Amino acid sequence: MLFISTTNLLSVLALASTLTGLVLADGPRSQCIVKLNATDGANCTSIAQQADVNLTTIQSLNPGVNCSGPLSSNDTLCTRQYTPKCTLNETATNQTCDGLASTYNLSTTDFVNYNDNVNGTCGNLTVGQTYCVSIDGCIPGNTGGFC
Ligand SMILES: *[C@@H]1O[C@H](CO)[C@@H](O)[C@H](O)[C@H]1NC(C)=O
Ligand SMILES: *[C@@H]1O[C@H](CO)[C@@H](O)[C@H](O)[C@H]1NC(C)=O
Ligand SMILES: *[C@@H]1O[C@H](CO)[C@@H](O)[C@H](O)[C@H]1NC(C)=O
Ligand SMILES: *[C@@H]1O[C@H](CO)[C@@H](O)[C@H](O)[C@H]1NC(C)=O
Ligand SMILES: *[C@@H]1O[C@H](CO)[C@@H](O)[C@H](O)[C@H]1NC(C)=O
Ligand SMILES: *[C@@H]1O[C@H](CO)[C@@H](O)[C@H](O)[C@H]1NC(C)=O
Ligand SMILES: *[C@@H]1O[C@H](CO)[C@@H](O)[C@H](O)[C@H]1NC(C)=O
Ligand SMILES: *[C@@H]1O[C@H](CO)[C@@H](O)[C@H](O)[C@H]1NC(C)=O
Ligand SMILES: *[C@@H]1O[C@H](CO)[C@@H](O)[C@H](O)[C@H]1NC(C)=O
Ligand SMILES: *[C@@H]1O[C@H](CO)[C@@H](O)[C@H](O)[C@H]1NC(C)=O
Repeated sequence: MLFISTTNLLSVLALASTLTGLVLADGPRSQCIVKLNATDGANCTSIAQQADVNLTTIQSLNPGVNCSGPLSSNDTLCTRQYTPKCTLNETATNQTCDGLASTYNLSTTDFVNYNDNVNGTCGNLTVGQTYCVSIDGCIPGNTGGFC
């Protein structure tokens, strides 16, 4: 009897997509939607309490911040992030980003935000790959570039 474990099944699927050249869209980047400015004497723990999230969340949303001691009064910490849902995928027929972006009235910045698998200048688009060209709407508190 043939037994395929979940791990094996995943490698089979990964292999199949490699063989067919099918690459799925990565989808939008996460955006910080709520930020807090550190006040004198604040540290990550007090910021976490203030924002009603745990310390792990604060650390993972602010990888560059040293949470071992007091924060600088200039530090702005992200306390909540949102990952938009893609509402429309499109296949790239040209390796320049501009054509695809402009068809959907997107700036390059928008397009980069909608696709976690392109670099900052959208200089590495791949013909035949699927990209996100539209995302869901705004949610309360969303001060990211989308609203
Ligand atoms: C946090 O600091 C930034 C930059 O200094 C400022 O623009 C913003 O208004 C401050 N936010 C709050 C809630 O004080
Ligand atoms: C911190 O909060 C997140 C989101 O609510 C949760 O998924 C995670 O398990 C929590 N971590 C700890 C260590 O409590
Ligand atoms: C954060 O500040 C609180 C008091 O506001 C203190 O009890 C705690 O030890 C501090 N934590 C760190 C990691 O410095
Ligand atoms: C983080 O801050 C602590 C306490 O202020 C300090 O001892 C440590 O060297 C800092 N770590 C980094 C990576 O800067
Ligand atoms: C905060 O930022 C201001 C302006 O960028 C700078 O002059 C000041 O030295 C900073 N303070 C700290 C504690 O880093
Ligand atoms: C876009 O593609 C991603 C990755 O394949 C998929 O998860 C998502 O459901 C697709 N979205 C739409 C609206 O087709
Ligand atoms: C891709 O688009 C650019 C700019 O719109 C155009 O100059 C170029 O000829 C196109 N390349 C192909 C292979 O269609
Ligand atoms: C892009 O904008 C133009 C002009 O505002 C409009 O006519 C067109 O329908 C828009 N296209 C999309 C895909 O939203
Ligand atoms: C494009 O660049 C981004 C960011 O460096 C990377 O994650 C992605 O894998 C690259 N895509 C291709 C097709 O090389
Ligand atoms: C994006 O990738 C292209 C192609 O690899 C490269 O020429 C360009 O410098 C990269 N841009 C950034 C900001 O990494």
